[in-house]
Amino acid sequence: MSTYNIVFLGDIVGRPGREAVKAALPTLRERYKPRFIIANAENSAAGIGITPAIADEILSWGIDALTLGNHAFDKREMLQGWENSRPVVRPHNLPKRTPGTGLIEIERDGTRLAIINLCGRVFLNGYDDPFRAIDELKTAISTPHVFLDFHAEATSEKIAMGYHCSGWATAVIGTHTHVPTADSRILDGGTAYQSDTGMCGPYDGVLGMDRSRVLQRFLTSLPVRFEVHDGPGVISGVRINVESVSGRALSIERFGGPERGNLE
Ligand SMILES: [Fe+2]
Ligand SMILES: [Fe+2]
Repeated sequence: MSTYNIVFLGDIVGRPGREAVKAALPTLRERYKPRFIIANAENSAAGIGITPAIADEILSWGIDALTLGNHAFDKREMLQGWENSRPVVRPHNLPKRTPGTGLIEIERDGTRLAIINLCGRVFLNGYDDPFRAIDELKTAISTPHVFLDFHAEATSEKIAMGYHCSGWATAVIGTHTHVPTADSRILDGGTAYQSDTGMCGPYDGVLGMDRSRVLQRFLTSLPVRFEVHDGPGVISGVRINVESVSGRALSIERFGGPERGNLE
């Protein structure tokens, strides 16, 4: 049976995250021989947002597509310099007038992969119903190879989305919390699922941000400006093995994260 691999990396946080990802890519390529490498880059610019220059830098390393999230437009440059030709997806369930797109399809070695980014609505404001968005996308997408980055806070909403897509999507993988979850599995119908991928960034901080500043906010309830934690970044991601014809996921494996560290 012919299969291929998808490698997905969780939220890249600032320079430590970018450096860790760049350093790990040769090993990831060697180990998994991925047909597609996708990364969430919503925190790649100084921990909050992304710029066109940073998107181009990350894509230049050979990553096939970038997904985003609630921080998609935090950097002004993204509104001025957005080009739809970039393989970058922002949350699909934003208003129709929002720049960018929430769905792209890319082709490698005869496989056409649809990549979707959606935001959840529990503890996140401003997004349309992601479940209705999926119902609409199911009729719009013709390839059986579908990767959904569901960028959401609540594990309940994420698991529910996994089941809503099971048997249709190849993978429903969560991002946003920056903490990897130990629930990777194949749902009925061949959909790879994990509630959160974790981040590629400095785990010595608080979600990648300077821990003394975050702690100061909690201790005083005063406004504090956050910066990326000054420490080494650790990658965190999943490898999904997919049946080439049907688009069904056969297995999912976590790598990296705070327990395992960077790849040797
Ligand atoms: Fe994030
Ligand atoms: Fe987020």
